[in-house]
Amino acid sequence: METKDIAPTLKKIYKEAGDFLPLNGTDYVEFYVGNAKQAAHYYKTAFGFQDLAYSGLETGNKETTSYVLQQDKIRLVFTSPLSSKHPINEHLAKHGDGVKVIALWVDDATKSFEETVKRGAKAYMQPTKEEDETGHTIRSGIHAYGDTVHLFVERKNYTGTFLPGYKTYKSTYQPKPTGLRYIDHMVGNVDWNQMNVWVEWYQKTMGFINLLTFDDKQIHTEYSALMSKVMANGNGRIKFPINEPAEGKKKSQIEEYIQFYEGPGCQHIAVATDNILQTVQDLKSRGVEFLSAPPKTYYDDVRVRIPNVKEDIDTLAKEGILIDCDEDGYLLQIFTKPQQDRPTLFFEIIERHGAQGFGAGNFKSLFESIEREQALRGTLDK
Ligand code: FE2
Repeated sequence: METKDIAPTLKKIYKEAGDFLPLNGTDYVEFYVGNAKQAAHYYKTAFGFQDLAYSGLETGNKETTSYVLQQDKIRLVFTSPLSSKHPINEHLAKHGDGVKVIALWVDDATKSFEETVKRGAKAYMQPTKEEDETGHTIRSGIHAYGDTVHLFVERKNYTGTFLPGYKTYKSTYQPKPTGLRYIDHMVGNVDWNQMNVWVEWYQKTMGFINLLTFDDKQIHTEYSALMSKVMANGNGRIKFPINEPAEGKKKSQIEEYIQFYEGPGCQHIAVATDNILQTVQDLKSRGVEFLSAPPKTYYDDVRVRIPNVKEDIDTLAKEGILIDCDEDGYLLQIFTKPQQDRPTLFFEIIERHGAQGFGAGNFKSLFESIEREQALRGTLDK
């Protein structure tokens, strides 16, 4: 099971030594996509995100088009290049649609940059002041796994809608939200033997702690395996599990991801809801596809293993929602199929009732479900 051992000790260390990289939360997640207009339409229609801001030819941006969508505390940006000469094309040709920027909200983007670069992070964006009539922001950035980057966003002197260069945008087409509230965690897939390299990188350069560890003895099915370590920042608002493949009889989902993303990258974004049943029913009615439900025996087992679930188990079973628990409570979760043509990024919908874990008790049934999809794609056999 999950080991939750060192967190209290490390939290004490933070308290005494101070957190050199205080993070207020996730600021936004930026995707590089082939057609930002259509991607934004999909995430509005299917997931219920709302229009927030726009940058493109009409705002004087001749290089790229970006649509910014919001649902409660979650902000997603979809960006496409406007010509074949733009460097974003290289990212798109290699990775397909995917997450480029995991932006973190900070009080001091200059200090965040200096502290992380001093500890070995590779600079991506020098601290840059951007301004408009409502004030200024400062953004800076560092390279993380693969071509993914972290930007630090300082907005304490800014009252505009999103960032300078963007205008407020609201089209007449406004599908309702689906109850998604905030980003719970974002998972990175890295290559063979690279998990500990990135775990150490998050420890050293960003001051994160290794909150939980799962080895391949815990995360495996009959056919495939992976290893995972959960990294969290000092206040626990940012959680980045890091996965790497492990040896199995067949090809693991992490290998499949690395093959199709052509390198390491963001595997899934877990978004929290207060009412997973309603959210999932809503998402399904809008065309979001989820992994197949586990067998009936899974729910028979849940009734014994987790007796205090408030929701009706039969209803959860009907929707294919998974249930797990730790000593602090239980959680409900479900996983979408990949959200683009390549079998790469997907979403997790999660509702926590106290539990702080990531659903380790569900890994086996989840991975068996993914393996059924891999078999259909012909990517399970080595
Ligand atoms: Fe997750």
